[in-house]
Amino acid sequence: MMTPEQTLSAQLRHLAIIMDGNGRWAQQRGLPRLAGHQQGAEAVIRTVDECLRLGVRYLTLFAFSSENWGRPEHEVATLMELLLKFLSSQRTKMLENGVQLRVIGDRERLSDAVQKALYEGEKQTETGDRLTLTLALSYGGRNEIVRAVRTLATKVADGFLTPEQIDGALLEANLDTHGMPSPDLLIRTSGEMRISNFLLWQLAYAELYFTDTLWPDFGRDEIQRATDVFQMRQRRFGLTEEQLTTKKNAHPEEKSH
Ligand code: IPE
Ligand code: IPE
Ligand code: MG
Repeated sequence: MMTPEQTLSAQLRHLAIIMDGNGRWAQQRGLPRLAGHQQGAEAVIRTVDECLRLGVRYLTLFAFSSENWGRPEHEVATLMELLLKFLSSQRTKMLENGVQLRVIGDRERLSDAVQKALYEGEKQTETGDRLTLTLALSYGGRNEIVRAVRTLATKVADGFLTPEQIDGALLEANLDTHGMPSPDLLIRTSGEMRISNFLLWQLAYAELYFTDTLWPDFGRDEIQRATDVFQMRQRRFGLTEEQLTTKKNAHPEEKSH
């Protein structure tokens, strides 16, 4: 007999979250936006702990988008400081818990100090094999696809690849998320119902869950609700219900490209 956690972790290998609503959380309390981002970092810690408990193997968090560069300079600086604080305060715990840190996004735009801290964090945790915690930073789905296409085009121009060899699998292998399974479930907090340029390629068949809860209030209860809803969904991947019931023991992800 599988425990409920084992059943869930077989179905939910990869959880992706758009962490939204920090500013509104602070505003509702008459606090500066910074306070919301600080509490947001606590919600990240709770979420990582819960994923470890549930046996989810990949957790990808949208922490800073390519469009967020347009926010006021002091807010951007605050977010970068919080990121550095998070990395240094969580390092030991990540190592102890088998958490592997990974970063996706256009890193070149990040400051040297942030880039260095990220590389160090990734290097130090590279043997973590319980949970891959991916932070999407300076990340935009369109930008990620453009960078992958550029890499492939260079290989074609240099004669290492023919255009015919380019297929979905090869494009996927050149995305920042290479080697990861696609997200099974996407959660967005704060009541907004949009993707905001997150994982455009990878979310093709993710189940979507939206909640009004603001990110700083997010935690175990909300994850429980989201995973309950997720487990009631039938993921069909374009097939008929009948086709699915005959192979219901396999993870249903189909490589459709
Ligand atoms: C999410 O909260 C954090 C980031 C986007 C960096 P917001 O800062 O977007 O909070 P709201 O949407 O203004 O409430
Ligand atoms: C999406 O949130 C980006 C992150 C959570 C990092 P935003 O608050 O930037 O998204 P929009 O502007 O509401 O679409
Ligand atoms: Mg927002």
